[in-house]
Amino acid sequence: MSSKKTILCIGAGYVGGPTMAMIALKNPDYKVTVVDINADRINAWNSDNLPIYEPNLLDVVKKVRGKNLFFSTDVTLGIKDSYIIFVSVNTPTKNFGHGAGYAADLQFWEKTARQILHSSDENKIIIEKSTLPVRTAEAMESILNFNEKGISFDVLSNPEFLAEGTAIKDLENPDRVLIGSRETESGRRAREEIVKIYSSWVSEEQILTSNVWSTELSKLTANAFLAQRISSINSISAICEKTEADVDEVARAVGTDSRIGAKFLKASVGFGGSCFKKDILNLVYLSRHYGLSEVGDYWESVVKMNEYQEKRFVLNMLKEMFNTISGKRIAIFGFAFKADTGDIRESPAIYIVKTLLEEMANVVITDPQAINNAKIELGETLDDKVSYCTDPYEAANNAHAIAILTEWDIYKKLDYKAILQTMQKPAFIFDGRNILNHKELFKLGYNVTPIGKPSLRHF
Ligand code: NAD
Ligand code: UGA
Repeated sequence: MSSKKTILCIGAGYVGGPTMAMIALKNPDYKVTVVDINADRINAWNSDNLPIYEPNLLDVVKKVRGKNLFFSTDVTLGIKDSYIIFVSVNTPTKNFGHGAGYAADLQFWEKTARQILHSSDENKIIIEKSTLPVRTAEAMESILNFNEKGISFDVLSNPEFLAEGTAIKDLENPDRVLIGSRETESGRRAREEIVKIYSSWVSEEQILTSNVWSTELSKLTANAFLAQRISSINSISAICEKTEADVDEVARAVGTDSRIGAKFLKASVGFGGSCFKKDILNLVYLSRHYGLSEVGDYWESVVKMNEYQEKRFVLNMLKEMFNTISGKRIAIFGFAFKADTGDIRESPAIYIVKTLLEEMANVVITDPQAINNAKIELGETLDDKVSYCTDPYEAANNAHAIAILTEWDIYKKLDYKAILQTMQKPAFIFDGRNILNHKELFKLGYNVTPIGKPSLRHF
């Protein structure tokens, strides 16, 4: 019989790896194993070259790896040996059949459920860590509990709220931990086991318990609300550009209202990341599935506004550069969907670069962490029109324009005077993150187009 202090996490990705490293660090008396079908990923987790870039992650991993944290490809053994199983596999948007483009693709999820059943010969606690549509736990329970082995499973929901780039900070000091279970005796007992794990470093008031369906819906709702704030301020940025209002000033004024709050009001080229779009579309699907078409339309508009923002950014570039960028070298500063990560999933940079290439521009991409992922995303097809370099000075050399697409700190500290001397004239900067000092740049001689503020032009 496996000890109650054995934890398995299926899926060693952006969530599974960091979350389990933190749980292992804070619970030295538990044995934590993370498994994945992707052997390269597991090898990387077992090396000093982790598969994801996340500040301070390596330090945490090094403290526990080989002691009470293990990475392995042996999913079957992992299941057999563990009492508590977190499932943190990917749940992308379905791109085929019924619900294509909106619903969650649950094939990885269901495969995992069947594998857990196949490899188990005693009762276990299963925890949804992945973000899933409401009532997925019910489907998992059905697959697991209709068995002839005489064993039973409690399925709980414990969604993750970490953000990439700040994962360790978020895990160490979460706003809240949410644990949903059934209100049965065994459901409550299972919930206590999970509460116990988190309470070794999270205060009692921050551990919220609830029923499974509320928990599942809370995760989708939290992401939808966060994304909605960005789309709201981005919609205002479009008005600012027409009226000479300044979106950062509007955000500051609005955000000081304590009922609104200052966070997530930074106008940008658009939100990216693997989850906001997918989770909102999931909510849209769910709403329409229950006949709530107005609700679905409401949330879909958040995604549409984001697409509009990305599109507007490229159109502004084109307009400022005399309606032609064909043959012009454009330096892209930042390809990651946000700073401090190498992740490019749904990054606005993907759409923007592809559109610039359609306009026959020569694009050079620089990013401190995301160049390899950018190469994979853009592939071979775009041949000599796109190139990559790690040094932003080299990227800007001979360029007609710089587009800031990720708010990496290093881009705030570059010598833009020296850069200007190496660029074609007139030189343009499109600040898709509003991180630079626009007036200073204008004084140096640049033509500057921020988000949600008038362009500064020398002609
Ligand atoms: P990811 O793609 O980085 O990792 C998922 C891993 O699961 C992959 O390595 C994949 O190989 C593995 N996998 C898939 N099927 C498997 C199977 N049958 N057996 C073993 N391994 C399997 O995904 P992620 O970004 O870690 O996201 C995981 C879930 O967490 C998603 O539902 C996502 O919505 C949610 N989430 C993500 C974040 C984030 O910041 N990325 C934050 C909160 C929640
Ligand atoms: C987001 C949520 O913040 C997490 O709580 C959640 O767990 C996670 O999604 C998830 O479910 O995957 P993440 O996508 O990693 O985290 O990063 P965010 O900091 O939320 O940024 C998302 C995007 O919005 C980025 O492209 C970022 O640049 C953009 N953003 C963010 C803005 O444009 N303006 C802002 O004010 C804030």
